[in-house]
Amino acid sequence: MRIDIITVLPELLKSPFEASILKRAIEAQLVEIHFHNLRDYTSDNYKSVDDYQYGGGAGMVMLIEPIDKCITKLKSQRDYDEVIYMTPDGARFNQQIANQLSLHKNIIILCGHYKGVDQRVRDLFVTKEISIGDYVLSGGELAAAVVCDAVIRLIPGVLGNETSALTDSFQDNLLAPPIYTRPREYKGHKVPEVLFSGNFPEIEKWREEKAYALTKARRPDLLSED
Ligand code: ADE
Repeated sequence: MRIDIITVLPELLKSPFEASILKRAIEAQLVEIHFHNLRDYTSDNYKSVDDYQYGGGAGMVMLIEPIDKCITKLKSQRDYDEVIYMTPDGARFNQQIANQLSLHKNIIILCGHYKGVDQRVRDLFVTKEISIGDYVLSGGELAAAVVCDAVIRLIPGVLGNETSALTDSFQDNLLAPPIYTRPREYKGHKVPEVLFSGNFPEIEKWREEKAYALTKARRPDLLSED
């Protein structure tokens, strides 16, 4: 998979890809990440990427021209499955969207800044708009990093144990059950006995029951989704 990220602040985005699972995925060539600094696509001496909004109002608007140049150049080099715009008014990101995106070959992620992009960018180039939650970040970069992390860990081969992504919270619309490791007893707090039974159907049943109870208590909305 190849992800091209268009941003005015590439330095804000780099570190999540330089450690742990994402770093290893890049080294193993399971994913390629390319950063594109919008200022490299400007045509004036000031390298302007934004301007005042027509009609008045607070906040700057990202110009269409540099974004057009960058996206058009990328599209001339390969086909893209999606051009995603990170914005608080997009569709709320969830595991299902992460699963869908992980099946793609090439995607572009455009990070918004200031008040956002000129509407014509959304009308002409963007195929999907994603929000990571009902709050406003200073820009789309951190949101893009969240989406990339959630997507990349689903690419086959990225996680050591293939099944571990499948047992994550939200796969099957359930939260994950409790997990334990050494020691068997800590300051009087014991690990549930069933986990030592060696009876794997019984352990699976316990985990399912716990996952269901947890989901019902914390996220009943997930149980009514299809
Ligand atoms: N840009 C600013 N806030 C955002 C959010 N919540 N999700 C995605 N992109 C954003």
